Amino acid sequence: MIVAVTRRLPSVAAEILTNAGLDIRQHPNDDPPTRQELLELVAGVDAVVCLLSDRIDSEILDAAGPQLRIVANYAVGLDNVDLDACKVRGIAVAHTPGVLTDATADMAWALLLAVSRRVVEGDALVRSGKWTGWSPLQLLGASFSGRTFGVVGLGRIGAATARRARGFGMRIVYSGRSRREEAARELDATYVPLDTLLQESDVVSLHCPSTPDTRHLIDAPALRRMKPTAYLVNTARGDVVDEQALVEALESGVIAGAGLDVFEREPALTPGLTDLPNVVLAPHLGSATTSTRQEMARMVAESVVAVLQDQPANHLAVQPGS
Ligand code: DGY
Repeated sequence: MIVAVTRRLPSVAAEILTNAGLDIRQHPNDDPPTRQELLELVAGVDAVVCLLSDRIDSEILDAAGPQLRIVANYAVGLDNVDLDACKVRGIAVAHTPGVLTDATADMAWALLLAVSRRVVEGDALVRSGKWTGWSPLQLLGASFSGRTFGVVGLGRIGAATARRARGFGMRIVYSGRSRREEAARELDATYVPLDTLLQESDVVSLHCPSTPDTRHLIDAPALRRMKPTAYLVNTARGDVVDEQALVEALESGVIAGAGLDVFEREPALTPGLTDLPNVVLAPHLGSATTSTRQEMARMVAESVVAVLQDQPANHLAVQPGS
């Protein structure tokens, strides 16, 4: 049986697949496959291991053929996979929940601290050779102790990010599709409507999935509801934020700053974003620690092997034959 793998992964994935007697058809480089390359890569395979940047829809599933049994997404988010199209064809869908929770929460805080304490601007100043020494009014930033941390989506990653906020002495409010009683109890977090969260929070951190309902959840009116001193952090999905509206809000001081790990049309950026000093940008690094990426590789490979060997598989968002 053949497994198409759309990008180079940590070697543990290939070891697990090969030890199970599976052949690997590997996209040859680290650039995303073009649509045509993806169509050709999947033709006739039994399993596809793909990335969040690969759109897996009916056309791809049909190009693979009726023997395809599992799509294993090397991500926790599944917005790139047409789950209904997989379901009607009986194709299982696996993903990587849990293992990237702490890495992503760390990244949310890395971005927040970088933008609010002006680390990138400071780094540029020191490197420029123009720094003339310590000065009382130089590059002043924000402090968060005693302030309010707003979590949009108190799932695993939202809760882990809020846990870190507790360590900074912050009060937690959250909003989302559903109340999360257990996490809320642990974090002493209060459920509030999104508008209240936007009005009250000194930091708004996004942790909801990308769905038709969350597209542009943070648009121009939402940004205007935020405090002018507040920061927005997005480690979820780019299209949850109207990026053009965010550029305008950052330019005009509607909010103080933003830390972004994800972009609406990544890797393309809305013009103006890179000119702004009050935003810190990361190239979708949320899960990018060595151990997390290895764990993700192990998970997708084990899911593929389990499904192809008719064994019970963990971490399936769509069960085989459902
Ligand atoms: C995910 O898993 O969905 C992240 O965005 C990438 O690791």
